[in-house]
Amino acid sequence: MKILVKFLIAAAAFLAAACSSPYTDAPIRSLEVWPDQDGVHINAHGGGILYYDDTFYWFGEHKGERSNNALVGVTCYSSKDLVNWTNEGVALSVVDDPASDITRGCTLERPKVIYNPKTKKFVMWFHLELRGQGYNAARAGVAISDNVTGPYTFLRSGRVNPGIYPENMTQAEIDEMNALDPADYPRSWTPEWVDAVKKGLLFKHDFETGQMSRDMTLYVDDDGKAYHIYSAEDNLTLNIAELTDDYTAHSGRYARVIPAGHNEAPAIFKKDGTYWMITSGCTGWDPNAARMFSATNIFGPWTQHPNPCTGEDADLTYHGQSTFILPVPGKKDAFLFMADNWRPRTPIDGRYIWLPILFREDGTPYLEFLPEWNIKDQWK
Ligand code: GAL
Repeated sequence: MKILVKFLIAAAAFLAAACSSPYTDAPIRSLEVWPDQDGVHINAHGGGILYYDDTFYWFGEHKGERSNNALVGVTCYSSKDLVNWTNEGVALSVVDDPASDITRGCTLERPKVIYNPKTKKFVMWFHLELRGQGYNAARAGVAISDNVTGPYTFLRSGRVNPGIYPENMTQAEIDEMNALDPADYPRSWTPEWVDAVKKGLLFKHDFETGQMSRDMTLYVDDDGKAYHIYSAEDNLTLNIAELTDDYTAHSGRYARVIPAGHNEAPAIFKKDGTYWMITSGCTGWDPNAARMFSATNIFGPWTQHPNPCTGEDADLTYHGQSTFILPVPGKKDAFLFMADNWRPRTPIDGRYIWLPILFREDGTPYLEFLPEWNIKDQWK
């Protein structure tokens, strides 16, 4: 009798959990038009998702009909099931003041938002390029809000960690870097130049003013520490930088990782104590083959693995470029890989590629292009 009662309770709990799951068999169709509640294609490129209060909030770049510059700002969409999205409007707006870093017409890319439970603030970081300066400024920008959907208040932008050496360089390596004479290494992509970059040729150039920060993501670890991961050194080297406890500044602890690896578009997740990072190469809006790395310490060392993409167009990341990896709440070992299919001539028409991360028997992640799949059936 007791066993029967226990079984019934367990079955009821299971049914309740199954019924309360927000996920349905509504299909995710990569590369197609994704209408919001008004039937308008979602405009949230280079984005990321924050799961907060049982709701997904997708933040991304608003793109214009013809322009990749920020004419509007960062948009926000909300959803309960990752398929039906409601446009929540502009979370961070560009401004008309020409003296502002985020004046209309600047370049504002790859925004990501995290929630800080201590300060109860939502913190947005993004890649910022000053108006009219191409990609030369290479800054990180930060904005905060009391409300998840905004409006976000811009705090500041700048290069990162000026005058601070990374934790993963020894004194001997610092000395060797400081002995490099840039005059001996004109930018040339020779093995000697690449080796000098690896040793810190470009790092040294930016040491006093702070490291460049272009393509980026954020990651909050299990212990609540948050990290800003960005392409530094003219996209040659990634930096993984810890944020302060309130997430609005860099703490000064960071690592230079995969030096001279030429990685952009970092996206990261952790499974069974291993960090996995998927990146792209650097070919602008044109797709290239993704790269994958793993580490057991977020500051490295990071080990490179083969391209995680398999099947047709694997060498082009299925015509996409990574932007974020979302752990899917309520599903075990479920990670959603998000990528952008850029359309630089008609940026507003850029499409999204969302795929489940699959795992080989040895635990290595990989991707397969599934033209149509759904969360309910993909992950039990
Ligand atoms: C890509 C980068 C995008 C954007 C673009 C501009 O490589 O990932 O975020 O900056 O270059 O050409």
